[in-house]
Amino acid sequence: MSDTAQSDTAQSATARSATALSDTAVRLRRPGWSLPQAAYTDPEVFTADLERIWAGGWLFAGHTCELAEPGDYLTRDVGRDRVIVVRGDDGALHAHHDVCAHRGSRLTTADRGCVRAFVCPYHQWVYRTDGTLRSARLMGEDFGVSAYRLAPAAVHEIEGLVFVCLADEPPDISGFAEALGPQLAPHRLADARIETRLRYRVAANWKTLVENNRECYHCAGSHPEFTLSNFDLGVNGDLRSNPRYDAAVARARSRWARRGLASAEVSFPDGAWYRVARLPLRDGFVTESLDGRPVAPFLGRLGAADAGSLRVVGLPDMWAHANSDYAVTTRLTPVDAGTTDVELCFLVRADAGAVDRDALTAVWRATSEQDWALCEQAYAGIASRGYRPGPLSPVVEASVEAFLGWYERALG
Ligand code: FES
Ligand code: FE
Repeated sequence: MSDTAQSDTAQSATARSATALSDTAVRLRRPGWSLPQAAYTDPEVFTADLERIWAGGWLFAGHTCELAEPGDYLTRDVGRDRVIVVRGDDGALHAHHDVCAHRGSRLTTADRGCVRAFVCPYHQWVYRTDGTLRSARLMGEDFGVSAYRLAPAAVHEIEGLVFVCLADEPPDISGFAEALGPQLAPHRLADARIETRLRYRVAANWKTLVENNRECYHCAGSHPEFTLSNFDLGVNGDLRSNPRYDAAVARARSRWARRGLASAEVSFPDGAWYRVARLPLRDGFVTESLDGRPVAPFLGRLGAADAGSLRVVGLPDMWAHANSDYAVTTRLTPVDAGTTDVELCFLVRADAGAVDRDALTAVWRATSEQDWALCEQAYAGIASRGYRPGPLSPVVEASVEAFLGWYERALG
């Protein structure tokens, strides 16, 4: 057998075994219960997650404001893949696999930067920002540069947020764009700046982090800063009824409608991967800050404090809150079955002047770090000999069940 055939056989055997194991792990789940242990901890299930979910869906790459000028680029690593997203000389965004068409080298070493062209560090083939090959030295007289280019990936911008997809046939993103675009537009994130980033490495499976994000069962017990400004209600599928919250939603929606601020909630329609919901903050809070006061000038064309907090979720890898004065995006990157990297970006108006970063980040630094500690505690138990799947609350964890249902379907 040739080396290529052997390697193909080995790869398909690995894929088959990952497929069989992930199918088993998922099939064993009882509806309304958490997943079997292997679905969180087994490296082969993790491989199946990367291949079928992460490589098949739309992933959050970054922000339009990071890609303002031609040549500005950022990279998004997921599993064995890296995508370059770059503002082209033509003004459009392009996404390319970071794989040289000569002998495969990565072109980039930094996670962002600005280039006139991408020059492969190995033998110096030179690529334009649109991915086409400009020059390749010493390749002989018959070599035609037009026959080679960087392999493209799909890219889509929605009002300042940039998504990429590695699939040959990306899922339809128009529903997400239609739900999110009009609600996010007044915050004008494309004209914002990233004031600061926080990065974490969390010792937990990526699904543990998403599950944690998908319920506020834990909020009252763990998030004193978050619950100053936020009700611990409003997660889709949370059946608790609270007249004060319901009245706050009704009042806020009619105020927002008078100001032309869209607030229709779109939560995972027909089992889709996205959620958009503008929710009110508690009385006395115009933003998610410790004292309720703005921490930066109002974003975009909001011009007033009363915008609530626009919550966005994109499975499998992102959530964001856009307030009247700042927005915070959270992006997950799976490292291995038991490790997930997280990046939070805090956005303010580009012309905001000096901003107090401690005040800007106070709520979401505290809340995120509390969440990572909870996830690590949960994952330690999940990975141990004593773990058995447990029942989800039908009252406050329906969104976790919805996520697990989505996960099962996405896994195929
Ligand atoms: Fe890129 Fe050779 S691998 S130029
Ligand atoms: Fe939390």
